[in-house]
Amino acid sequence: MGAPADFQNEIYLAGLGDARPTAPTDLTKLEDAARAVLSADAFGYVAGSAGSESTARANRAAFERWRIVPRMLRDVSARDLSVEVFGQRMPAPVLLAPLGVQSIFHPDGELATARAAASVGVTSVLSTASSFAMEDVAEAAGDGPRWYQLYWPKDRELAASFLERAKAAGYTALVVTLDTFTLAWRPRDLDRAYLPFLRGIGVANYFSDPVFQRAVGGPVTDENRPTALLHWVANFGNPALTWDDLAFLREHWDGPIALKGIQHPDDARRAADAGMDGVIVSNHGGRQVDGAVASLDALPPIADAVGDRLTVLFDSGVRTGSDVLKALALGAKAVLVGRPFAYGLALGGEAGVRHVLRCLLADLELNLALAGLTGPGDATLDALAAP
Ligand SMILES: Cc1cc2nc3c(=O)[nH]c(=O)nc-3n(C[C@H](O)[C@H](O)[C@H](O)COP(=O)(O)O)c2cc1C
Repeated sequence: MGAPADFQNEIYLAGLGDARPTAPTDLTKLEDAARAVLSADAFGYVAGSAGSESTARANRAAFERWRIVPRMLRDVSARDLSVEVFGQRMPAPVLLAPLGVQSIFHPDGELATARAAASVGVTSVLSTASSFAMEDVAEAAGDGPRWYQLYWPKDRELAASFLERAKAAGYTALVVTLDTFTLAWRPRDLDRAYLPFLRGIGVANYFSDPVFQRAVGGPVTDENRPTALLHWVANFGNPALTWDDLAFLREHWDGPIALKGIQHPDDARRAADAGMDGVIVSNHGGRQVDGAVASLDALPPIADAVGDRLTVLFDSGVRTGSDVLKALALGAKAVLVGRPFAYGLALGGEAGVRHVLRCLLADLELNLALAGLTGPGDATLDALAAP
């Protein structure tokens, strides 16, 4: 594949043969397009946030407040979007965020997402709550770069088993999500009394796990299914975890570890002190604490506090190439994108996710160049006007 921005000409040239993109190229329009094809349950699950959804609105408002200042006559003919994260060369500073239960968006779920990401060379982060077992998703990804996201279960033996399986299946870095030891108050799901896990979606990694199976009396069948689901409920998260518990992760994972859900510089410092490799500045796309600080507003103080010791990644609210540029300028090494690719998956399966990724990377390259920047390393505070 050529430069990401070539996608622009590809679209216009295909137009000469009367072809049009099958999904919006303005990625902020994907939500409306996906609403038309998803069930009300699935749409509510992906689009919804916690409580009054004030955090999700704040995430977007923060991106609106920061403005890019275009600079001229800087020779931006040679451009390189690539970055190195945890020793891994990435074609662009963008990853796919871990999103569980993707089969509610498309029957191929995480398998389609893994194939699309691999085809663009983008790293996909697989959720513990995936609809397919991590080994099957790894097979779909082939040589595609992949990380594993842990929802840290109460049962330590189960956590260790997840990590062992992830390592064996070729996931190279570990993301540990700290902000979801219990599910938040999510009115869209509550109003519909809809939780996919209780319907057996998003539990594939648990049901396929030898430690989990032992605890529920063997492989999950129609007979022990209610027991298995109750065991999942009892084990999903652990509100008793503290910073001291991080030593367990180091014992069971020898690759890079990033803590996801960090919003305060002191927590980022503690992550560094505990020997972690990175943090993901994230408020879970506004799905956990209602009325929380915008994730983008939490980013600069965290990057200042630990940017020299840890890899600082970012998510929550990224929709466009200019959003990526702004997050990089405010201190992120790379960003994770969440809902937009779920909407792409809903609209077109593997091709839909690829469409979203190619649009985002092309838009990023063009915005960087038009702002007078040749790559992610050029995106500093100088590129922005303060709110
Ligand atoms: C439908 C959905 C499912 C998610 N599932 C997970 C998950 O399993 N693990 C996790 O760490 N984060 C999960 N997240 C949060 C994302 O990883 C990410 O933090 C968030 O989507 C970023 O915000 P954005 O959607 O505004 O880009 C989920 C988000 C959505 C929308």
